[in-house]
Amino acid sequence: MLYDNHGRQLRYLRLAVTDRCNLRCFYCMPEEGLNFSKRSQLLSYEELHRLVSILSELGISKVRITGGEPFVRKDIIPFMEQLTKIEGIEALSITTNGTDLVRHIPALKAMGIRSVNLSLDSLNKNRFHKITRRDEFEEVMNSYQALIGSGITTKINAVVMEEHNLEDIYLMCELTQNDPVSVRFIEEMPFNGGSKGYTPIKWNKGRILQHIKEAFPNLVKLEDEESSTSINYKIPGAKGAIGIIPAYTRTICGSCDRIRLTPKGELMTCLYQAKGFSFRDFMREGVSDQEIKNQFLKLFANRAKDGFEAEAISNKNGSLQSMATIGG
Ligand code: GTP
Ligand code: 5AD
Ligand code: SF4
Repeated sequence: MLYDNHGRQLRYLRLAVTDRCNLRCFYCMPEEGLNFSKRSQLLSYEELHRLVSILSELGISKVRITGGEPFVRKDIIPFMEQLTKIEGIEALSITTNGTDLVRHIPALKAMGIRSVNLSLDSLNKNRFHKITRRDEFEEVMNSYQALIGSGITTKINAVVMEEHNLEDIYLMCELTQNDPVSVRFIEEMPFNGGSKGYTPIKWNKGRILQHIKEAFPNLVKLEDEESSTSINYKIPGAKGAIGIIPAYTRTICGSCDRIRLTPKGELMTCLYQAKGFSFRDFMREGVSDQEIKNQFLKLFANRAKDGFEAEAISNKNGSLQSMATIGG
């Protein structure tokens, strides 16, 4: 088993396979996009496979593919199939914007993917367009229906933003009444790639919960899994669940079991750290698996206590990085 210097077991790797995306969500990146990485700057699939194999030997058992949008990277499905064959990787899942998902669902099912997280901030076509700056609403809703029909556990991630999607909070809660979906409302974080400034959020977890309770006063608390990113609730009799992710207020750090590899191969032991150690450059020096293992262990033994400490150490000004370059 793998532990950090604060006694937290590390189990979960978030693996970002690209920083590119076919949407332009304004809370993630500017309209003109980012200075996207060239292919040679990304870790190759062989390099990614090597790092996941080494991490699985150290104790990582869950991998989530993220981005950018993972499905824009060519041959992602065969790569995921390779990952499912690594001994010790018990769960593989993916977070996607759902614009190109329907055709991949049979392959995901066939390789044993049990859960997919769909980023969807609005159930209204116009609001969706304003947020994502693209016209892909129908495709994403088709993906949602196909996922629900497929029996794959489905979670919706919705970033809560004043002036953009407050109307969607109740619509999404209602969705959980008939569909077996977990809708998770996320506090907005400063990682918008310079798309806009960032003022500390008005819609934090307390306010979101209070708002939901005004319409659903019988909301019941569910038991959360140990390292869950979301605090979970249910409307009595509903098929699905409602969650709140305190991504900004960071009350979940105490049980955080997550590490991240960015698209360029930097290891981040916290989302709020400014820069990670480059395993890409390290590997390209020709190091052995044992040297890679030792380097991982060194970083895990120096992990910040929480997202506030990580932010203070990195002392960055907050709004420059994008979730697409960090990997979410
Ligand atoms: P499950 O494994 O299904 O629970 O998914 P997840 O919540 O771990 O992953 P997902 O990709 O769906 O992320 C949902 C949101 O939680 C995103 O906005 C993430 O950036 C945020 N999140 C995930 N891990 C952390 C974390 O360690 N710290 C913070 N602050 N936010 C996180
Ligand atoms: N704040 C909060 N969540 C964000 N995401 C992307 N950018 C931000 C941000 N600035 C979410 C996406 C996706 C998940 C991986 O991260 O909506 O669901
Ligand atoms: Fe793309 Fe996801 Fe960023 Fe939206 S949040 S622009 S879907 S990477």
